[in-house]
Amino acid sequence: MTFVKRDLTPRIGTGIRTDLETLLGGRHAAEIRELLELRGVLVFPQIGLTDEQQVVFAGTIGDVIEQGEKGIYKVSLDPRESPTAGYLRGTILWHFDGFSDDVPTRASVLSARRLSGVGGQTEFANTYAAYEDLSAQRKQELEKLEVAHTLEATQRDVFPDPSPEMRAAWAGHPEKAHPLVWTHRSGRKSLLLGSSASRVVGMDLESGRALIEELLAWATRPEFVYRHEWAVGDLVIWDNTGVMHRVDPYPADSGRMMHRTTLVGEEAVA
Ligand SMILES: [Fe+2]
Repeated sequence: MTFVKRDLTPRIGTGIRTDLETLLGGRHAAEIRELLELRGVLVFPQIGLTDEQQVVFAGTIGDVIEQGEKGIYKVSLDPRESPTAGYLRGTILWHFDGFSDDVPTRASVLSARRLSGVGGQTEFANTYAAYEDLSAQRKQELEKLEVAHTLEATQRDVFPDPSPEMRAAWAGHPEKAHPLVWTHRSGRKSLLLGSSASRVVGMDLESGRALIEELLAWATRPEFVYRHEWAVGDLVIWDNTGVMHRVDPYPADSGRMMHRTTLVGEEAVA
């Protein structure tokens, strides 16, 4: 039985070398859950799980969302592979998953099946660490603010010239307000930002957008970011409640294929 951990950067990301039996048996599940919250991203290099094994492993650390085929959702920009390929183009921008949910998903488990020749690397930013490093005064200023999140905000930079149908679809999606600072049950706090952040509630549009941009730039400074250079068979888990992510642009016909399993949210934004 092996279980060897190594920090990938000081503030985010831990690599874990282990064997299949240890991983699937759930012996380290409690430790993995704890590390996930503390380190934001966990990497199991070239562990090479099958779909079935991926779902079994995910089930040892949380409840698996029934989506895709038996808990496996295919992430691809090829419309023949994924019915939501168009929407996924927005994933090149920093975001967290499920901005319109009261209880965002706990974590995503992603494995690389086929890679793109260019692009397709994934970056993760630790928004607990970004909050912690703010000055006491800044923390106090931000504490009471609410941010409205919209689908339109996630799409307008990717589709700068939308058709009337796209505009209508965006407008039909309700706005969702969340606190800018998420106070978790643990008492720890993280910034809740990302491409869906459209405006600051009660602030004029321009000042609010400027604040969102400033904080996004802060939260994605190199010291808070881990960049994962994928190899086929890698398995990566990230904490969707304290980490933003984005993918480097890659061609839609590159063949890149990732298999994702998602864990049910456990805590409402507060
Ligand atoms: Fe995502």
